[in-house]
Amino acid sequence: MIPTRPCIMTIDLDAITNNIKLYESVTNKTVFGVVKANAYGHGDIMIARHLESLGIRVLCVSSLDEALHLYKHGITADILIFGPTDPQAIALYHKPQFIYTLTSMEYFKRLSDDMQQVRFHIEVNTGMNRLGFKEVEEIKEVLDTTPHIIEGIYTHFSSADEVSDFTDTQAKRFESILNTLDYPFKWIHAGNSHGSISYQNPSVNAQRIGIGMYGYVEPNMFEAFSLKLKLAMKLETMIVHIDSLRKGEPVGYNRTFHADQDMLFGTLPIGYADGLNPLNQRLPFKVGKRNMPILGKICMDQTMIQVNSSDSVGDWVEIVGPNRSLYEIAQHTDTIPYVVMAQLNDRITRKYVSHGEVIATINIQNN
Ligand SMILES: Cc1ncc(COP(=O)(O)O)c(C=O)c1O
Repeated sequence: MIPTRPCIMTIDLDAITNNIKLYESVTNKTVFGVVKANAYGHGDIMIARHLESLGIRVLCVSSLDEALHLYKHGITADILIFGPTDPQAIALYHKPQFIYTLTSMEYFKRLSDDMQQVRFHIEVNTGMNRLGFKEVEEIKEVLDTTPHIIEGIYTHFSSADEVSDFTDTQAKRFESILNTLDYPFKWIHAGNSHGSISYQNPSVNAQRIGIGMYGYVEPNMFEAFSLKLKLAMKLETMIVHIDSLRKGEPVGYNRTFHADQDMLFGTLPIGYADGLNPLNQRLPFKVGKRNMPILGKICMDQTMIQVNSSDSVGDWVEIVGPNRSLYEIAQHTDTIPYVVMAQLNDRITRKYVSHGEVIATINIQNN
């Protein structure tokens, strides 16, 4: 496919392979690949296919819709759905590879007994206070009375990406519940990308890896580990127009930038409708290591930057990548790297590279 608009995310599948192997070797636990939210902006289908090719047995999504999307594109691995799924929707749309989360006693009681072959993991609320059972007696009751297949149990840490004793507190609560239950769960999992590094209890046999698989963990928390991860995503766009400004002339909406001398500007076909936070105007884009300051406000579809006489229409500019890191972008846009990744949407063409070759170029909108 010839990209129809030069706004391209290149995804290095070998980086994802590297990152999964790193988690496996450091933790010695099975990796569940988290591909919710369009695989954090990387494109769920291609990432899921790649994970299947690596032998990943369980993929994680947030909703039945996301699971059905993978199913419709031929994904056959098990798919664990994190959110509570409406029992009526399960009855209508269930596929044998789907696994649901039991999130509370109230939810359990709404399930009908005739879904006997349906698999579930129990979520334990150890302090995140989002979803999950708090009382061990309730979990016991589920295990004693359920007609369904209870295949796993898990908890979710709230503060694993910062220095905090709370991860330990949550881990202890989880272990105490596991000890009390003493039940032969097939899967026991707790950590996400950060929690799996800091919490490596042997009673846990799997880990749900999202952002780390895509190549990022908090560098201040896990410096040595973060250096071994490879960022899978590079987002670039192209200068499509160059023109000059006279001293004093404004640029863009509301004329928030005025040239302080005669200068050149370039226009890029990327804007906030691609998922680029408008606060990106605080951090220059890059050509190699060279700064390309953003002039005025980021528009819906376009952004103007300062260029010089060595720049030409057709030159590529880096938006996310080795010279403009997720960490820096998140810092400058008052957010977290998860948001930066997950907001990049389907307008952007994705190019998947493996062993130095482009294996697919996909734009969902014109597919
Ligand atoms: C329940 C659950 N597990 C795992 C993850 C993956 O987290 P991370 O991307 O930090 O690895 C998430 C992400 O939000 C989640 O909600």
